[in-house]
Amino acid sequence: MSSFHYQSEDLYAEGVPLAEIARKYGTPTYVYSRADIETAYLDFDQAFEDYEHLVCYSVKANSNIAVLNILANLGAGFDIVSGGELQRVLKAGGEPSKIVFSGVGKTEEELKFALEVGIGCFNIESPAELELLQSIAQELGVTAPASVRVNPDVDAGTHPYIATGLKENKFGVSRDTAIAMYLKAKKMKHVNMVGIDCHIGSQITEVKPIIEAVSEITDLVDKLASYGIMLEHIDLGGGLGICYNDEKPIPLVDYSKAIIKAMGKHQHRLLFEPGRYIVGNAGILLTKVQFLKKNHENSFAIVDAAMNDLIRPALYGSWQRIIEVKKSKKTRTLSIVGPICETADFFAYGREIAAKPGDLVAIESAGAYGFVMSSNYNSRNRAAEIMVSGNKSYCVRKRETIEQQLLLESVLPAHEEA
Ligand code: LLP
Repeated sequence: MSSFHYQSEDLYAEGVPLAEIARKYGTPTYVYSRADIETAYLDFDQAFEDYEHLVCYSVKANSNIAVLNILANLGAGFDIVSGGELQRVLKAGGEPSKIVFSGVGKTEEELKFALEVGIGCFNIESPAELELLQSIAQELGVTAPASVRVNPDVDAGTHPYIATGLKENKFGVSRDTAIAMYLKAKKMKHVNMVGIDCHIGSQITEVKPIIEAVSEITDLVDKLASYGIMLEHIDLGGGLGICYNDEKPIPLVDYSKAIIKAMGKHQHRLLFEPGRYIVGNAGILLTKVQFLKKNHENSFAIVDAAMNDLIRPALYGSWQRIIEVKKSKKTRTLSIVGPICETADFFAYGREIAAKPGDLVAIESAGAYGFVMSSNYNSRNRAAEIMVSGNKSYCVRKRETIEQQLLLESVLPAHEEA
């Protein structure tokens, strides 16, 4: 049950009317529900309660430190992809030993920082990264816990931009390369291979590719065991899909049952890196209608949010539900667009909605890959982020100002006369 619900005509986040949030903090504004984040995390965690596991929330989905702190307080681990995300997790009270570090292009500085902090596992994505990790760990006089990210070559059946497990993708390495890397690491004094990792894509709504990946990975685990390489954990990445429109996401119980069944005799601790599942439906983007306008056959509602705030429709053609903050029967067919000078600056085409200038609407399922993908395009200030908890709302990120945008820029010195 979502915490975004109507009480008579008015849309609420938990116990707070969204109209009140708009009055207090302005628009466009992201609004998250603490209860929804906690419920999604606990449901995921409990789905595997009979099996040794760790849920490492994928920070990239929503990296606001209030979100991370809520999850850290529940005992979550974290999946990071940059030094910046590591700083955020530490600031939010995350435990270093529960952090896994993914990504194809980790820099020397990032590897060093993560080694100094003592993270739980480096998910290595290439032979070159293995060499670099060994040499930095040697310099620091420490041993790096690591796993190899394997590309199981399965089709996740999702949007091509977010499918990551095909052999032609840049992620992970092939089975043969992985075996060679484990054998090489066996001789390295400063890398300790503790696991194996894969992530085949995002917004997955079918069990089949996940099971194929598990069977590919467990098969490889057996092969490695035959070389005397014994691993402690299997990291299955993230990817569990959510409902935006009429998708039928995999029920958690089916997901966990299918994975545990596919593990067969293998007893390895399981790691997961869900992002979207934890926060996707726990957030909305609150925006105000600026103008209505008709061009040819198309009626537009121009809102004060834009593709710089939420880029998913423009980038992936993704469908997001848009609902009125004050319900009304006077609906019409409208395309909801932003003010940016790009035709791709749209949120939806041809929706039945009641919206007149000054009305508020909520773009649903915006908690994941929303604010984190926002930019300053058109010199727009990035939106505020509000966390609702019960009857209270908290500003967890202030709206950006133009002064803050300009802070890092400067003009050239005055031209000197020759
Ligand atoms: N682990 C790794 C290594 C990943 O690359 C990702 C997502 C995740 C975990 C979390 O996946 P999730 O559980 O959220 O599906 N911006 C796109 C999604 C990009 C996903 C990138 N990797 C979107 O808005 O749909």
